[in-house]
Formats: sequence, C-alpha cells, structure tokens
Amino acid sequence: AVEIKESTVLVILGASGDLAKKKLFPGLFGLEKRCLLPDDLKIVGFAPDEMSYENFIDIIRKPIKLESPRFAEQLKQFCERCSYVSGHEGGDKAFEALKKRLDELLKGRKERNHLFYMALPPSVFVPMSEMLKKHCYSERGNSRIIIEKPFGHDLESSRDLQKHLEPNWREDEIFRVDHYLGKEVVNNLLVLRFGNEIFGSIWNSRHIESIQISIIEGGGAEGRGSYFNSTGVIRDVMQNHMTQILALLTMERPKSFSSDDLCDQKARLLEWIEPIEHDETIIGQYSKSEDGEKPAFKDEEDVPDDSKCATFCAAIAHIGNERWNGVPFFLKAGKALNESKTEIIVQFKQSTNVNIFNDLLPNKLTINVQPNEGVYLQINSFVPSLETKTEAINLDLTYRGREIPEAYEALLLDAMKGDYSRSVREDELDASWRIFTPLLHFLDGEESVEPRKYAYGSTGPEGLDEFISSYQQKR
Ligand code: BG6
Repeated sequence: AVEIKESTVLVILGASGDLAKKKLFPGLFGLEKRCLLPDDLKIVGFAPDEMSYENFIDIIRKPIKLESPRFAEQLKQFCERCSYVSGHEGGDKAFEALKKRLDELLKGRKERNHLFYMALPPSVFVPMSEMLKKHCYSERGNSRIIIEKPFGHDLESSRDLQKHLEPNWREDEIFRVDHYLGKEVVNNLLVLRFGNEIFGSIWNSRHIESIQISIIEGGGAEGRGSYFNSTGVIRDVMQNHMTQILALLTMERPKSFSSDDLCDQKARLLEWIEPIEHDETIIGQYSKSEDGEKPAFKDEEDVPDDSKCATFCAAIAHIGNERWNGVPFFLKAGKALNESKTEIIVQFKQSTNVNIFNDLLPNKLTINVQPNEGVYLQINSFVPSLETKTEAINLDLTYRGREIPEAYEALLLDAMKGDYSRSVREDELDASWRIFTPLLHFLDGEESVEPRKYAYGSTGPEGLDEFISSYQQKR
C-alpha cells in the first residue's frame, strides 16, 4: 500500500478559518489517534492573523473532544507536530516566511515533500498557487496543492480556473477534494455493486425502474446568506457531491481500483448524462416556517428581496447508454426541509409473479449515506400465519455500533499519500459542469422564473409528488 512519504510537511493555508477549525484539524487528529501519521510528519498553519503558537494550539484543541484519557497524550503529540506561520506581511514576504519554516523543518533531509491545503476562498486559489510555486515548490520531492469546491461557477469559469492553475501545477499535483467521496457509505457503493453478484447482475434498466438520490438538510442558509445567494443549491451540492454519487452508482466496472481506472469510468459515465432541462426540474426557495419562528431565505443578511436563488431543486437526469437508457434518475437537494439525510433509493421493477401473490411490492434497495449509515433491502415475505399473505420486510445491513471515520480523515490521508482515487479529476469536473451549466445559465438569466415557495421545515414545494410520479410507471 502507498504510505505517506518521509519528510512531508502539510501546510494548511487559511488555518484560522472555519474549514480548518471544524474539519481539517479534527480530521488530522483523527488520523493521529489511529496512529496513521508518520513520526516525522509536520503540520504548519498559515494565515494572515498575528497569533502566538499557544493561540494557534487553542484553535486546534477547541473542537476536539477527548473520548478517553489515553487520547490526551496523542493530542499533546499532535500539537507538537504543529507550528504556525503568520502571513500578516502579505505578498512575497509572507511566502518567504513560510519557505523559511519549511527549510527549518526539513533541514538536512534528502527529500522534501510539500502539501498545501488551500482552506481559502476560491477567488484566491490562483494568486496563492502562483506564490506557492514561486517560493515554496520543492524540486527534490513532491509538491502538491489541495483545493476544494467551488471550482468555478459554470463550465467556462471552471475551465478558466484550470487554465490559470496549469502553468504552475500539473494535474497530478492538484488534489481536488469532494468531501462526499470520503464518506464511508459512498465508498461502499463500489463493493456493494462490484463485490456482490446478486447486485452486479441486476444493475441495469431491465431490472431497475428508477433511482432517487436525495441530499436534504433541515438547516437553512443561516449566516451564509451571501454565499448561498450567489451559489444556490445546484452549485452547492448537486454539481459536485450528488454527481459524484451518481457516477459511482452507475459507472461501468473499472479495470482496477487504481485512481486512473476509477476516474476513467466516472468521467466516461458522466459524458452519457444529458444536460438537465429546466422543464424537468422543480426549483424552490424557502419562506418562513409555518409557525413564523424560522426565517425565510430572503430574511438572511445580504440576500436581496428579489433573490431568485434556488434553495431547493428536484431534477430528472437521463443516462443515454445501454445500461441505463429509459431509467429516470430523480435528484433532489434542498435546505430548510423537514429532516436532514442523504439517501439513495434503487427501485426495482415489479416481480412478474405479481398475479400469484397478493400485495407484492417491488424490491427496493435503500442506501443511507447519513445519518444511520447502512443499507436496507426490501423483500417480500409470507406473514407468519395460516393464510398466504405476504408483507414487505427489510433485510437490514446497518453499520450500527461500528465506528465510522470522518470523511476528511479519509481524504487527508489520501492526499498525503498521493492516492488520487478519491480526488476529482479535471475531465470529471468538466463533465459535471456540462450537465448543469445550461440550467444554471437559464436560472441566472433574465428569462428565469420565480422559484416555488415552500415553508421552512416542510417537505419542499408543492407538486413534487406529481412531478416524480409522472415519471414513474405504476409500481
Ligand atoms: C457543503 C455545502 O459542501 O456540503 C453545504 O457547501 C452543505 O451547504 C454540506 O451543508 C453538506 O455536507 P455534509 O457532510 O454535512 O452532508
């Protein structure tokens, strides 16, 4: 297996920001607890703030809850790996200071491996990546940058970002994070499909009626009104997280699980998805909750009264290849709904023996990505009685009781090892923007329609059920 190279320094740019505080440092400490970090790995926080080492360590410690006293020693060890460089002087000076720290930490080493996690707004990806190349690139080992969405706001701007990164960083030096790829159940799709003959053989339009993927959240855009107003739910979760799930769920079997083979298959599949049409969507925006307690999206700070931002979208996707032709894919994502869950439902066709048994229901595979991670298979069974009545029961494959690693632990480990199987490759990114860009341009344009209103805490806009059932043949 690939291991983290010796003489590696991981730099977190934006070390005082939310992503670093809430996800990256806790994720790294998770790896420390699992004893997966090599002894000589160093972590450097870099941010414009002037801050002492102690203050920086407080940032790291704050969100960490020590479930057991034995972790206290590991936290101490973890903090000893970490140091802080202030970039308050800005420009070249800031990066010279960072370079100096890298030199100190790797003094006398033959190899130097640098990883730069840009926990920063995307508007600075390009200037930062130029500065890093200019001052901190290592010729005697690997240097890589790690970036996280949004990668542009449509196909063209995503290509533009790529074009500006390219002169300094090769594709194999850019790790693009989609944190959904680090989720345990999303990974499990591979083994579920390709490691089980019972699923592998029926995974096609002959047996599957429809597939539904939902990423729904109970919370609204609280405190992120301005970001969300310029992003909307399609860019926020559908073009990236949901499309990656869809690709893993429907791609052909890769030759191997190497990053090249995996990304090849995902990219190939995405090419088959037709761009989503506006008349195959329901676009919604949340209004106040029915009891008036929860705010409307337009009540958020920096959201204009005439905002048409989509906080909800249901869409139908079609995959034109032989395996999936004719199967509708219902994609649903939204904020401020009645619950939070990410779920995949694979609806199988009705059994041909429907006339022999009464009350047969079609088989249904439910994959709970979160919460209550697990997989359920709905099958028909006799009700234990003297009559021949059937009922639908669930084969329950939940992960109950198992400890599930955080998505960022998996991805940080991959990035440090240089394993790109869960990094989004440029061609996948391109293909996923191609699917959503015409719809996004329509919604951003003059001709756009008002989103349908739904109350905060409800199940979404009216008309949703009719919309879905109009695509579903009778079950
Ligand atoms: C992020 C979005 O990428 O994913 C957020 O920007 C969203 O708006 C989040 O809430 C969902 O991630 P998770 O892991 O909480 O399901």
